[in-house]
Amino acid sequence: MDKDRFAPFKTGLAELETFDDGPPHELYERMRDEAPIIWTAAPSDWPEVDQPGFWSTTRAKHVAQVSRDPKTYSSWLGGFAMRSEEVGSLEVARTAMIGKDGEDHRRMRGTVSLAFTLNRVQSLEPSISRTVSRVFDAAFERGEVDLATDMAGVVANTTMADLLGIPEEDRARLNQWTDAFLSADDAIAGGMRGDEAMAAISEYFQELLVERDAHPSDDLVTALSAATYEGEPMPRDEQVGVFAQLIAAGIDSTKNTICNGVVTLLEHPDQLDLLRDEPTLVPSAVEEILRWRPPFSHQRRTTSCATELGGQKLGPGESVVMWLQSSSRDPQAIERPDVFDVTRGPKNCPHHAFGGGGRHFCLGASLARLELVTFFHAFVTRVANAELTGTPRRIRSRFVDGYTHVPIALKPHGRKARG
Ligand code: HEM
Repeated sequence: MDKDRFAPFKTGLAELETFDDGPPHELYERMRDEAPIIWTAAPSDWPEVDQPGFWSTTRAKHVAQVSRDPKTYSSWLGGFAMRSEEVGSLEVARTAMIGKDGEDHRRMRGTVSLAFTLNRVQSLEPSISRTVSRVFDAAFERGEVDLATDMAGVVANTTMADLLGIPEEDRARLNQWTDAFLSADDAIAGGMRGDEAMAAISEYFQELLVERDAHPSDDLVTALSAATYEGEPMPRDEQVGVFAQLIAAGIDSTKNTICNGVVTLLEHPDQLDLLRDEPTLVPSAVEEILRWRPPFSHQRRTTSCATELGGQKLGPGESVVMWLQSSSRDPQAIERPDVFDVTRGPKNCPHHAFGGGGRHFCLGASLARLELVTFFHAFVTRVANAELTGTPRRIRSRFVDGYTHVPIALKPHGRKARG
């Protein structure tokens, strides 16, 4: 076989520039067709080479196979991102449930699931609706806003604060720490480093847990504090870690999906018109948005033993990157994958935005869906005209697809005359 033909497959997905103009769908398509499991060399910008590279998997069936076999494909050995340093460190990843295997993962996820129930998610519906209404009212009042910071970020942050039960007076400083922690890539946000922000968040939750023990409330902090799994309560430091994990996993992902969705709808005005005529299609549109622009480009596992995947022999301790952006557009799994179609319906829209369906499947998927459906319902029913007023600024990352800024002008449907 012609060696050069595979050259872009062996380096492309490792390089930051490859993602500069959006997900590299042409490359994904060629890789799915010609080399669905291929060794990718370590990126050129990794300062110290802690691993020689990784296996890239681009087809839906292989992503599902890796996700559903946690014994062979470990989360603990190498973390969940192509390079752990890009999202903190391997040590931090291992304290989170997404970085644990086997019994450790089962215990942590089991305890959190007892507190983070579907009922609790559904009980947040009125407050999510209020927050969404508020951000649209404010946007109409101002005419021009930044969708990322003034709308999507507010919805995601406020919902997380409501879920956890953060008192009103503490929200501003928690948001400040969260922003600093989540923009650790930019090193410094609001004068605080990511690790300092993480320490402040942890200290805050230590204090809040003590306060909730004395004055229980109907929130996740109280519920997790009281939850026992197989008779054992979760150790205090793990509880604190869980809140930091929820913040890390649940805020930016939802914020980015809202931005990705609005930008996509503006790029597909016919689909936006369809939704305006038929808002009952919004849940279907949300699945299509998640499929079209998932906020996480990939998730990673590491082989715990020698194995075989799609005809390739993998050695023990090798990194395996599942490209969710690619598997969500695999023509073997979905019809017309390169058509953005809000009418598919959730059942006909298989995607991997929340993972490939294994034990680490996103714990917050139902909450994220509720936020997204509420937001996009308001977007298609309340906004008469939406226009970008500048070029949206994308996050520079191999791991995340989203925006730091999306300048936008929103006009509401004509208001009735007063009187
Ligand atoms: C659109 C929004 C979101 C997307 C696209 C998303 C996506 C993901 C993905 C891809 C994973 C890894 C799955 C795997 O490796 O199999 C994950 C895990 C996780 N997500 Fe989400 N997520 C979102 C929102 C949320 C929210 C709102 C929360 C919490 C409130 C949350 C909590 C978690 C947790 C705790 C895990 C780890 C689960 C485990 O390891 O067992 N996510 N998410």
